Amino acid sequence: MKVILTRRGFIRDAAVGSAALTWLSGRHAPRAFATDAAKPALLGGAPVHQGGWSEWPTWRESWEPAVLKVLRSGKWFRGDGGHVAEFETGYARLLDAKRCLATASGTTALLVSLHVMDVDAGDEVIVSPYTFIATYNAILCNKALPVFADTDPATLTLDPASVEGRITSRTRAILPVHIYGMPCDMDPINVIARKHKLGVIEDACQAWLAEYKGRKCGTLGDLACFSFQNSKHIPSGEGGAVTGNSDELLDRCHAFHNVGRATGSFKGGKPFFTRGSNYRMQQFQAVILMQQFEKLLQETARRRENADYLGTHLKEIRGIQPARLPENSRAVWHLYPFRYDAEHFSGLARDKFLQALNAEGIPCSGGYHEQYFDGLLDEAIHSRGFKRLFSVGRLKAYRESFQELKGNRQVCATTVGLPQNLLLAGRPEMDHIIEAVRKIQAHSAALAKAAA
Ligand SMILES: Cc1ncc(COP(=O)(O)O)c(C=O)c1O
Repeated sequence: MKVILTRRGFIRDAAVGSAALTWLSGRHAPRAFATDAAKPALLGGAPVHQGGWSEWPTWRESWEPAVLKVLRSGKWFRGDGGHVAEFETGYARLLDAKRCLATASGTTALLVSLHVMDVDAGDEVIVSPYTFIATYNAILCNKALPVFADTDPATLTLDPASVEGRITSRTRAILPVHIYGMPCDMDPINVIARKHKLGVIEDACQAWLAEYKGRKCGTLGDLACFSFQNSKHIPSGEGGAVTGNSDELLDRCHAFHNVGRATGSFKGGKPFFTRGSNYRMQQFQAVILMQQFEKLLQETARRRENADYLGTHLKEIRGIQPARLPENSRAVWHLYPFRYDAEHFSGLARDKFLQALNAEGIPCSGGYHEQYFDGLLDEAIHSRGFKRLFSVGRLKAYRESFQELKGNRQVCATTVGLPQNLLLAGRPEMDHIIEAVRKIQAHSAALAKAAA
């Protein structure tokens, strides 16, 4: 077992060492003191990390003049100024995508993409179950059925092997999610989509600058969706984007997000020849986003460096399994996830492990749960519209199919996730994370006993 020596660890180890010597010399009290100091924080010991973590989001004073300029111009709406288009050009360049359309949110980016990929009432979309609930909702809003493929427990993303068996005559598209900024294995997904003539929409809402085999997420399917909501790596309160390499599809997206107005090659004989909605981004959002391109690049590099370091050391701890990425791929870590095996922690339940790690000053959570059992899908399939669109037999089989998602169940029950802002800290803080996990393992029997 490799020992990582931090200043705190050094002081503690030195204390244990000297206590052991004292013990040998026959004086008992200091040894008891040293044992207390190493106690898990949940059992009254000192937390491994006490310094707090950086806030999110962060901004710079240097952004203020540009935001103020928009305010004072009164040109706040997309149609009145050039900032949104400027942002689109810049964001597309960042991804090496041909086009980008800015939207009001990631959800609206999904709604636009599903419409343009011709997902209609009564259709089915094969989707990753391990995602933020907005992915399910966008499909349901189109009165289509989100059909869940399974999650690969090793990667936490859509298992391509579980897709083909779920295709029916109603399936129109596949919607893989690059969850936590980890790219899905897109090659086999695209092969299946081509074979069955299905569209591919990437949910890249957490995957700004993530790479799959040398190409950025956002350029790997027909269309891709991003979110710039406040918690995201490039935030603007709310905001989103659709990206892709097809002018025809992006013209259609633009028209749909702008109440159906003609765009580029997509036009009709009269002004309102096609359906649409209002999913436009505001000038303020675009200006705030553009200030952050360089920051995003720098912070992504920092998160990657720290995630690589964590991965190297956490995987040495028995019972901790960092997620596997597809080959030649790079994640951006909206959350840094690892799988936790309680067997190597004296049977300490995952939720108790989370409590213990939080108590050590390391914020963490269990990631997504099995959301399909929460009720929204029951509500949808019992609605008048869905009952009109799908047969009783299909809806029954659909509801029963949630039980088949064994990989996803395992992932939901065993994942531990560290929020992205932890990865912006320095090496000593990464050592605290590793040290805290080791400490919990060393005391897992006591923790499990206390939890019983
Ligand atoms: C994976 C995923 N999909 C979709 C969305 C929806 O994005 P928004 O919140 O911007 O509507 C989010 C945002 O949290 C997300 O994380």
